[in-house]
Amino acid sequence: SLESAVRRGGASGSSCRRFSSNSAPERKVAILGAAGGIGQPLSLLMKLNPLVSSLAIYDIAGTPGVAADVSHINTRAEVAGYAGDEQLGKALEGSDVVIIPAGVPRKPGMTRDDLFNINAGIVKSLCTAISKYCPNAVVTMISNPVNSTVPIASEVFKKAGTYDERKLFGVTTLDVVRAKTFYAGKAKVPVAGVNVPVVGGHAGITILPLFSQATPASNDLSDEDIEALTKRTQDGGTEVVEAKAGKGSATLSMAYAGAIFADACLKGLNGVPDIVECSFVQSSITELPFFASKVRLGKNGVEEVLGLGPLSDYEKEGLEKLKPELKASIEKGIKFAQDN
Ligand code: NAD
Ligand code: LMR
Repeated sequence: SLESAVRRGGASGSSCRRFSSNSAPERKVAILGAAGGIGQPLSLLMKLNPLVSSLAIYDIAGTPGVAADVSHINTRAEVAGYAGDEQLGKALEGSDVVIIPAGVPRKPGMTRDDLFNINAGIVKSLCTAISKYCPNAVVTMISNPVNSTVPIASEVFKKAGTYDERKLFGVTTLDVVRAKTFYAGKAKVPVAGVNVPVVGGHAGITILPLFSQATPASNDLSDEDIEALTKRTQDGGTEVVEAKAGKGSATLSMAYAGAIFADACLKGLNGVPDIVECSFVQSSITELPFFASKVRLGKNGVEEVLGLGPLSDYEKEGLEKLKPELKASIEKGIKFAQDN
């Protein structure tokens, strides 16, 4: 397809042609928080994905309208809306992929960690339901702070006896999307062919774009340029929060990023080879129990957590600097789940 060719940096992508939508297996995707700023455009994008046969749209309220609206689109997915606790089980039952953008977004002046007190409880209750109604589903976590909500989910699943570390993902795709856009602008290369890995976590300095590995490589960028690109990527979320001036955080670019990542998960489940995306997963590539890096996706979720590759001195420094903050956020999530 054009998209896979584009995402392979212009390679032919011929191995993907065998997997046309005609032969795509039945796949159910559930979106939790689907009436929200991210949830609505994400519902639209998943309705447009030919790999989806069933789309469950869940929120505490407002989903009948979103579902009725999206359901009129003449694409493959059968859409159903679910509202409120009592319908959560039905929304989740049989899901292959659960996408979670439920929870409050930032306002100017807040950090993602300031969302912890509200979102930790939301994520915990949703993950408890997942362990009951679709324990085998791939879970892609968008709710912030991702550095803590993913560890919370892992603990909830462990307690329930359903944890499969290969099937839990923190969505960091928006960091990659931003890094690609900003790099293409600075390096003056067509954005469609750009690739930039982003590792670490998803908050401030824990977001570490590896511009030394960006392709196509650029010889024109100074150290100052790389530093500015790194900072802009790390502060991309805040740039949007400030521009929206109290009306929330990134929703449209996030829906795009969430749809890209869910599509990669579906392709992996369907056995499409060589699906690689960056994501915040259980990891042993550093001493931290969770870390974002490139991962290869397959029929069971994570097939392989790929290493960091060669880092520049600036990136090595950034890696050491981010570890204490990321470690603390992970531990905060684990502690919350164990104590509550
Ligand atoms: P929003 O307030 O517009 O929407 C959130 C939705 O979640 C609302 O519709 C709300 O009713 C729903 N919700 C709350 N509790 C729920 C529950 N228990 N079950 C189901 N739904 C519930 O917010 P938004 O802009 O869509 O952002 C959602 C989250 O995504 C925030 O935490 C935000 O920080 C995060 N986010 C993450 C990234 C990322 O890169 N990972 C990017 C952008 C936003
Ligand atoms: C983002 O990166 O846009 C999200 O994490 C939302 C935020 O609070 O910045």
